[in-house]
Amino acid sequence: QIKGFLFDLDGVIANTSTYHGIAWHQLADELGVKWTDDLGNQLKGVGRMDSLNLILKYGHKENAYTEEQKEYYANKKNENYIHLLDSLDKSQILPGMEEFIKNISDHGYLISLASSSKNSPYVLEKLDLAKYFDQRVDPATLTHGKPDPEIYTRAAEVLNLKPEECIGLEDAVAGIKSINGSGAISLGIGDPRILSEADINFEDTSQVTLENIKKALNLSYL
Ligand code: G6P
Ligand code: MG
Repeated sequence: QIKGFLFDLDGVIANTSTYHGIAWHQLADELGVKWTDDLGNQLKGVGRMDSLNLILKYGHKENAYTEEQKEYYANKKNENYIHLLDSLDKSQILPGMEEFIKNISDHGYLISLASSSKNSPYVLEKLDLAKYFDQRVDPATLTHGKPDPEIYTRAAEVLNLKPEECIGLEDAVAGIKSINGSGAISLGIGDPRILSEADINFEDTSQVTLENIKKALNLSYL
C-alpha cells in the first residue's frame, strides 16, 4: 500500500532545473568545456561538486584544477544560480504540481523532499510550498549523492515508511536510478526514452494526478 510520496524539486516541482542548466553552461564555457544536451542531462539531479567533476571529466580536464580552485568554481556556479532565482515565484511552479501536492496532502499521504540541492529550502519557501512537506532530507548529511539510493532510502525513513510504501518523483536519470535502488516506485517526468528505467512515466507534470498514477500502476485503489 502506498503511504508516501518522495519528491525531487528541480524539474519536478519547479522549472529551476533550467536555471541550474544555464548556470552550469556558463561555467562550462568559462572552463572551455563544450556544452551539449547530453552533458546537460547527465548533470540533472547530481549534486554541486559531483556536477563540476562530471563537467571536467566530459572536457578531459579532470586533473586540471586543485581542490581549492574547484571550490571556487562550484561557488561561482552557485552565485550565478542564486542570482537567477531572484525573480522566482509561484508562477514558476510546473503545471498541476501545486494541485497534486495539495491533493495528496489532503488525502493523508506523507510527503518528503529528496532534493540534492542545498538551495532547496530557500526555493520551497519562495514557491510557498514548504507547508506541504512533512519532512526533508538535508543533502549535506549524505555520504553519496544520486544516483546512489541513499537520499531516497532516507526520504522514506524520515517519514517512518518503507521505500516500498512510497512513490518517488524524478525528472533525471540519476534520480530514477536512486529511487529504483531504494526500492520505492519510480515515477519519471519527461522524455520516456531518456527516463527508460522509470517504473511509470509521464511526459509532463500536468499528467501527474492520483487517478493517472493509479491507472499506470494498475491499482484498484491508491
Ligand atoms: C539538484 C539539481 C542539480 C544541482 C543539485 C545541487 O539535484 O537537479 O542540477 O546540481 O541539485 O544543487 P545545489 O543548489 O546544492 O548546487
Ligand atoms: Mg530534478
